[in-house]
Amino acid sequence: GLERSRVEEMIHAMQRAGAGSLQVISDFDMTLTRFAHNGRRVPTTHNILDNRLLISEDCAKKMKDLLNTYYPVEIDASRSTEEKLPHMVDWWTKVHELLIQQKIRKDLLAQAVKESTVMLRDGYKEFFDHLAEQQVPLLIFSAGVGDILEEVIQQNRVFHPNTHVISNYMDFDHAGVLQAFKGQLIHTFNKREGALRRAAGLTALQGRPNVLLLGDSLGDLTMADGVSEPENVLTIGFLNDQVEQRKESYVNSFDIVLVKDETMDVPNAVLRHII
Ligand code: TMP
Ligand code: MG
Repeated sequence: GLERSRVEEMIHAMQRAGAGSLQVISDFDMTLTRFAHNGRRVPTTHNILDNRLLISEDCAKKMKDLLNTYYPVEIDASRSTEEKLPHMVDWWTKVHELLIQQKIRKDLLAQAVKESTVMLRDGYKEFFDHLAEQQVPLLIFSAGVGDILEEVIQQNRVFHPNTHVISNYMDFDHAGVLQAFKGQLIHTFNKREGALRRAAGLTALQGRPNVLLLGDSLGDLTMADGVSEPENVLTIGFLNDQVEQRKESYVNSFDIVLVKDETMDVPNAVLRHII
């Protein structure tokens, strides 16, 4: 965490530069969506696919086993990013292979999102609407499933024209059946590559050197690496899980750390100061 005065200084500089200099880059799962609600975990975009409309009981069980194996690795405070990397590639690759075997139908995705318990964080509407009103581009950069992510923000009526998404998109055949995932795989710890390869090319983001970055993983900090000549990059980290073990690294890495905060109150307050 940055000193309070440093954060205030940065917010002030961003306010002076105005909406025309700002872009917002945010992770999706467990950053724009809640981590938990009433003591129960809120599903990630991958977990929304756990619906009998889309995948078999057997596939669901295999995905759960993979989650139980690899999620503890993802959030393990005692291992380095380099150590975690190959495990994340294995996790995503295995899950995507399982999903492809299920012959998931595109026309059933919206129904699965409707039936899920997914929730955006409290205050999401103010966040999305305010950025749209001020014509500040919002880049959602997610290692989740792009088609599901879009459906979630669509169903919450906040998918505005200033929104850009970089994620893992499904590739459907002519009959609307899942046959592959498009492009290079994005997992939690290779967002830097995606930022350089894809975010850097988005014209809507160009000439905006001030960045508000939101994430829940240390890997999310690299999402702004594609910004050319950045001036002020203010980072907010949501620390949802393994709080005691990870607090020190989060405080050392993000400018502002929010511990078990299920709301958009702090990002919204920062934005109200800037624009
Ligand atoms: P994010 O980049 O939008 O946060 O998405 C990545 C999250 O998705 C990451 O924290 C792990 C989670 N995930 C699942 O919940 N289930 C899965 O099967 C996979 C591959 C990832
Ligand atoms: Mg996340």
